[in-house]
Amino acid sequence: MSRQKIVLAYSGGLDTSVLVRILREDYGYDVVCCHADVGEARDPEKIRERAMKAGAIACEVVSAQDEFAKDYCFPAMQANALYQGVYPLSAALSRPLIARHLVQAARKHGATAVAHGSTGKGNDQVRFDLAVQGLAPDLKIVAPQREKNITRDEAMAYAEKYGIEVPTTKKSPFSIDENLWGRSIEGGILEDPAQEGPEEAFAWTKSWKDAPDEPGYLKIGFERGVPVTVNGEPMPPAALIRKVGEVAGRHGVGRIDLMEDRVVGIKSRETYECPAAVTLITAHRDLERFTTLGHSLRVKALLDQKYAELIYEGFWFSPLRRALQAFNDEHEKTVTGEVTLRLFKGSLHVVGRTSPYGVYNRALSSYGREDAFDHRASEGFIKLVGLPLQLFSRLHAGGTEPA
Ligand code: ARG
Repeated sequence: MSRQKIVLAYSGGLDTSVLVRILREDYGYDVVCCHADVGEARDPEKIRERAMKAGAIACEVVSAQDEFAKDYCFPAMQANALYQGVYPLSAALSRPLIARHLVQAARKHGATAVAHGSTGKGNDQVRFDLAVQGLAPDLKIVAPQREKNITRDEAMAYAEKYGIEVPTTKKSPFSIDENLWGRSIEGGILEDPAQEGPEEAFAWTKSWKDAPDEPGYLKIGFERGVPVTVNGEPMPPAALIRKVGEVAGRHGVGRIDLMEDRVVGIKSRETYECPAAVTLITAHRDLERFTTLGHSLRVKALLDQKYAELIYEGFWFSPLRRALQAFNDEHEKTVTGEVTLRLFKGSLHVVGRTSPYGVYNRALSSYGREDAFDHRASEGFIKLVGLPLQLFSRLHAGGTEPA
């Protein structure tokens, strides 16, 4: 009988290389590796070579940067998506995209299962599993790391035994996950919530000390809630994110230190640098405030929080996420214009905005001579708004205050 095939989410690192062998030897599968490039700057040829050396029968390397930017990062930005009000969900957003490509590769190769290297105590396992369930409920999901809890030393020993190439890059004391939308840094000294993250943990953002002594400015142009220009220059999605990230990072913008609640109930200290995400969300939110109405903004703020939770908790491929996206697509129709931001030693401020749809009317809001607002209309307005309050106060001798 021929062996069944499994598609493994393959990063090119030691851990997933060892998994190729484990899936082959211990689980009895033919292993197809699948790597979706979401902007972590690794060499695709090298990845393919390493997968084959580790014992894969095939390796799919997909360039997915623009897909990630356009179909995942920008929709999240439209929802101003920040988990617990702070984290732009960079790691969380990449998992459904990777899962989508796993499923595609599984179909192409006639595989019956998919595998990933997530541990049993993180969020990523939840995101992989739920995304695969949402897309292809027939596929079996295998997570050897979750089942066996393989330590770093065991992985090294395994690599040696089977002649698996160990990446030559010097081992960082941190566990890193990175893509266009941000970089997550965990482990080592960062596990002590009392300690400030050391400078060596950061790679994309300057410390305030090393940031320029002069402020920098960025002008981001949006069309229907999608960023399309930087300082007037049109840019495709991934390039735009990279450009904004470079400028923001140089000014030390986007460092995040969050006491975070994981899906599996663990409270953990998480460190991120998300210069592009933080900058784009800040700009986007400002343009929404300028071009849409207060009552829809208040409803959207509630839905935005739910949208962020869905991403965090792994429900990207769900009817609710799609329904919220449909709301946003409608809501974003007027979110067109330009936002100017000032960046200075880690701080980020919106300092100006323009839009053909700005609801702002200077003659109405002005305290100057151009005032066009009908002041007397307010009297009747307040009378009606206060009517129930008046009725109540008349009924109760002491008014609304206890006697
Ligand atoms: N706490 C973050 C999240 O849940 C970071 C996860 C990083 N993943 C990783 N495999 N290092 O989104």
